[in-house]
Amino acid sequence: MELRVLKILGSAPHPNVVRLYGFHVGLLPSQCIAGHPARCDLYVGTAAGPASSTVLWRVLERCGADLYERLPTLRRDSGAQLPEPLVLALLEQIACALAHLHQHGISHRDIKLENVLVAPCGSLKLADFDLASVDAACTDTVGTRSYAAPEVLAASERAPYAPMPADVWSFGCLAFGLATSFFFVDEASERDWRFALVARCQADGRSALRVLFSAYRLPCPFSPELCSLLDQCLQVTPAARPSSASVHNALEQLVVRNSRAALVPSAPLAQEPQAVFQLCVPPLS
Ligand SMILES: Nc1ncnc2c1ncn2[C@@H]1O[C@H](COP(=O)(O)OP(=O)(O)O)[C@@H](O)[C@H]1O
Ligand SMILES: [Mg+2]
Repeated sequence: MELRVLKILGSAPHPNVVRLYGFHVGLLPSQCIAGHPARCDLYVGTAAGPASSTVLWRVLERCGADLYERLPTLRRDSGAQLPEPLVLALLEQIACALAHLHQHGISHRDIKLENVLVAPCGSLKLADFDLASVDAACTDTVGTRSYAAPEVLAASERAPYAPMPADVWSFGCLAFGLATSFFFVDEASERDWRFALVARCQADGRSALRVLFSAYRLPCPFSPELCSLLDQCLQVTPAARPSSASVHNALEQLVVRNSRAALVPSAPLAQEPQAVFQLCVPPLS
């Protein structure tokens, strides 16, 4: 855990990033949580400190279950597959958090469903900064294998990678898993037939997602817009992936478009424009 990351996180809060109230290396001093009377709102997490004998204490905003744990309930409530408007609304929050981190020079390096917590108010909070880094180039293979970008799995001292595009790949894997409930690839290396197929399709300029679904003889469950965005995030070549800010922008637009579509009256209302008008405009008193 990098103290530089914690310092930035502490000074740059964001509604979709677990709030860090304080941290301390060693034993937890009482003053660390003294200023926060609503102690049940706090979560005190520990991790290995910078020296092997120390413990890093973090005082965080308390959240609930993670998104991976919540998925079965979400699916039960909304059918076997999550409806795309819900997927978009969830992804937009995670992309917003990621864009914020990247804007502050932090790469997360372990983006996955298990590291997104659900706050009591229902909004999503990106968590777990154990592997986060402020370095512009990394040489270590870290994170979770099925979410790791190809360049992360192939990394070495001689083959460094930029960690922010790698986060965008992991975000693509998370989005794919959230929407479909299976992993995009088991690992992003030629040992995995799905990855080999993805790499071949991209070399031919085809949509990897569509080809992957047709290999399973399943219809692609994504709208063309979301499919195209995920195809871009999951580009094997890191430089071909969009920045997290662009991903967030695109998702924000899709969410807005969807909510506008939700305002478009369904068939019976379409014959009664007055009724729609009444829904949007408060009656004159
Ligand atoms: N702010 C928090 N509020 C509530 N629970 C948390 C919080 N942070 C972490 N946890 C719990 O601890 C678990 C592990 O935390 P995490 O930071 O992801 O560390 P790691 O995955 O490295 O063990 C989470 O899945 C969650 O159950
Ligand atoms: Mg974790």
